[in-house]
Amino acid sequence: RPVVFSGMQPSSDSLHLGNYLGALVNWVALQDDHDPIYCVVDLHAITVPQEPGALREATRRTAAQYLAAGVDLDRSTLFVQSQVPAHAELAWVLGTLTGFGEASRMTQFKDKSAKQGTDATTVGLFTYPVLMASDILLYDTQLVPVGDDQRQHLELTRDLAGRFNSRFGETFVVPEALIPKESARIYDLQEPTAKMSKSAQSEAGLVKVMDDPAVTAKKFRSAVTDTGREVRYDLREKPGISNLLDILAATTGRSIPELEAEYDGRGYGDFKKDVADAVVERLAPIRTRTLELLEDPAELDRLLAIGAERASERAERMLRTVYDRVGFVRRG
Ligand code: TYM
Repeated sequence: RPVVFSGMQPSSDSLHLGNYLGALVNWVALQDDHDPIYCVVDLHAITVPQEPGALREATRRTAAQYLAAGVDLDRSTLFVQSQVPAHAELAWVLGTLTGFGEASRMTQFKDKSAKQGTDATTVGLFTYPVLMASDILLYDTQLVPVGDDQRQHLELTRDLAGRFNSRFGETFVVPEALIPKESARIYDLQEPTAKMSKSAQSEAGLVKVMDDPAVTAKKFRSAVTDTGREVRYDLREKPGISNLLDILAATTGRSIPELEAEYDGRGYGDFKKDVADAVVERLAPIRTRTLELLEDPAELDRLLAIGAERASERAERMLRTVYDRVGFVRRG
């Protein structure tokens, strides 16, 4: 069965609707006929400063949200990145194959570092996509379910795999990104031209999985729209309405034209309420289940340890092959 790999950063108290619709929904769907490996990427999270206690908490919360959303340990491997040292080890090797200019062209790095300034920007943030390539390439991954913002990182991963293979012989599978149609890019409800992101200035437009349902409903009621009245998909003229249409389509499985027809002549009020209801209906049970799972952190840690054990075995095998091909002497 084709290997699927993906991960999310534990850098907040909750995943958001973009993480859920852009990636997690696909993670769950792929479990039937694939061999999925899902990771909480704590090594990636520390590329920006994290408070240690909060990081530990967020790591467990992220894992609990994966499980609550439907990641099933009978069909998927779930683990924490820092518990499998091969990720950092392969990243070192791949870093030596990555051009400085190539890494400098990563738009996420350019955006984040421009915001932070050179002195606050770490080398870790710069090499972040190389570590992501390492995550993916360690497992013969064929498919990587992610949101649209990871497209460029996937291209780099494919380039690095191809480069290693041509220099040292066929070693890595060259992976494909799996990016959803409607929900590849969910926007902030208050600023519908900016991607929904945990680092948003204000939380008013950030829909969190772990928000109280009343809070989620309120965020949708106050979502920014435009001055017209028509519920019509038009990214340029109506970014707010188009975002809500994408969200409703992704949560209900209905098509955009179907939804446009349904709200024809009905104004924004009904529409926004229905989007809120649909999202709450999806997220509320996930929140409840996450809170239940978090009541027993020792059990959660135990499940994660089993996942790390399984992932390590596979990752170690690949790392040994890579070390051999590169010319490292095995410990005798
Ligand atoms: P992260 O933690 O920023 O985001 C996790 C996933 O959520 C998707 N996403 C979105 N999708 C739609 N709309 C949005 N507004 C939105 N915001 C985030 C992201 O595309 C991602 O799929 N670099 C990765 C983590 C990572 C990874 C990996 C992913 C590390 N190693 C290996 C895949 C494979 C990241 O920062 O995700």
